[in-house]
Amino acid sequence: MAMLEILRKRRSIRRYRNRKIEDGKIELLKEAALRAPSSRGINPWRFIFVTDKSTLQKLSKAKESGSGFLKGASLGVVICAVEGESDVWVEDCSIAAIILQLAGQSLDLGSCWIQIRQRMHSDNISSEDYIKQVLGLPDNFLVESMIAFGYPDEEKEPIPIEQLEYEKISGPANIA
Ligand SMILES: Cc1cc2nc3c(=O)[nH]c(=O)nc-3n(C[C@H](O)[C@H](O)[C@H](O)COP(=O)(O)O)c2cc1C
Repeated sequence: MAMLEILRKRRSIRRYRNRKIEDGKIELLKEAALRAPSSRGINPWRFIFVTDKSTLQKLSKAKESGSGFLKGASLGVVICAVEGESDVWVEDCSIAAIILQLAGQSLDLGSCWIQIRQRMHSDNISSEDYIKQVLGLPDNFLVESMIAFGYPDEEKEPIPIEQLEYEKISGPANIA
């Protein structure tokens, strides 16, 4: 699939079929994540790939809303960074996250980002601390996001080109 075609087709998919993702595809997702560019090539990220259903169920409770659909996913990737390795770890993790989503799209997988950084699990527990406890992660891990993956069980049309907010772009007029 050409890149623009992948971009056109990608939509946030939150409903997944009860179908395992093939090991070969999971390996390709791992490769894609590790090919993400990062500032100064420091690669501060760590990726935790989770396919165990009961762990996905626990992780789906990381937030009161906006994460519940992870329990129906076939794969969740928890995107972390190690504290102190890079001052721009948020950018590095975000780039890796979107690369994972686009790689997933190229493999016919649906996906959706789940925001974790600066989100709360409950009044006193951050989503980050909740996830670290579920997965037994070291104290110096920072959790940025989770990406849910699975074979889509919902269809979403590409956003029509007429709906794209070209007014948010300045530069040479359309000369086509
Ligand atoms: C930084 C970021 C955080 C997001 N957090 C969540 C989230 O926590 N839960 C969720 O269901 N979707 C989340 N999304 C998905 C957006 O809601 C979605 O991308 C947006 O509505 C546009 O829809 P589309 O992806 O289908 O084009 C997030 C997306 C981004 C880029």
